[in-house]
Amino acid sequence: MHSRSPALHNYFFKQYRVAGTYVPLAIRPEGLEAALRALAPLGFAGCNLTIPHKERAIAIVDEVDALARAIGAISCVVVRPDGSLWGTNNDVHGFARNILQQRPAWRADEGPAVVIGAGGGARAIVYSLVDHGAREIRLTNRTRERAETVAREFGSAVHVVNWDDRHRALDGAATLVNTTSQGMVGQLPLDLDLAKLPANALVIDIVYIPLETPLLAAARRRGNPTVDGLGMLLHQACIAWKYWFNIDPEVTAGLRATIEATIPKS
Ligand SMILES: NC(=O)c1ccc[n+]([C@@H]2O[C@H](COP(=O)([O-])OP(=O)(O)OC[C@H]3O[C@@H](n4cnc5c(N)ncnc54)[C@H](OP(=O)(O)O)[C@@H]3O)[C@@H](O)[C@H]2O)c1
Repeated sequence: MHSRSPALHNYFFKQYRVAGTYVPLAIRPEGLEAALRALAPLGFAGCNLTIPHKERAIAIVDEVDALARAIGAISCVVVRPDGSLWGTNNDVHGFARNILQQRPAWRADEGPAVVIGAGGGARAIVYSLVDHGAREIRLTNRTRERAETVAREFGSAVHVVNWDDRHRALDGAATLVNTTSQGMVGQLPLDLDLAKLPANALVIDIVYIPLETPLLAAARRRGNPTVDGLGMLLHQACIAWKYWFNIDPEVTAGLRATIEATIPKS
């Protein structure tokens, strides 16, 4: 219910004069299948999936693309003309396009990347980092087995670090990404000591409410460059519009300012 996707997609509906609307639907995990099957009869063009549905939905839809299959999570569903459901994952490209728009000089292979978390979002981010040439990804998650599964699936660049050792894992890192829900409104801040993080490392949070999470605030105070999670949301939404309506929106300053105005700063 915190999602800014309705504001964002309804901005596009207005901008492109498409007759439609985007509504938030709070679906319990046990109701996910029935909800997805109701999309076609209710006249939906598709939907997005967020926490905690991305991984389970893959077994419900009729077909997924290779990207979603590789990641094991879908963030976007398209209702096809025959009413069947097709799933893909827009988080992967949304993540990378956002960083490169905000930090064009960023390179995934310029040094070790530390990824905190191993849920649906993390899977997309690890995939994207590997895809962009990351040679060393230090992956740490409260539930270690989940991180081990990601490491097994995404190749030899991914090394699992014990949750208790996450603070030390920042030593020498070039990129740090929080993919947990910690720091989000209503949640505790991410418990991470930045002391060992090099001052030039790029710190990214995929949480976007608030815009400046406690992690990003701490990083900014010590001089690290930062990227917030809103841009990723904007970029993945543009990709969804291509699939749903064959329209290719751009992430403009006006779009960002409109959505940013609806989000608490910290
Ligand atoms: N900006 C964007 O476009 C975008 C895209 C995707 C996701 N997100 C945001 O990313 C966050 C995660 O989403 P998701 O879909 O990946 O969720 P998810 O699949 O449910 O994964 C949640 C992750 O958070 C960790 N976690 C939860 N509570 C924790 C705690 N108390 N201490 C430490 N770790 C904890 C989980 O660890 P365990 O495995 O131990 O439970 C897991 O790694 C959400 O805030 C979501 O809104 C943003």
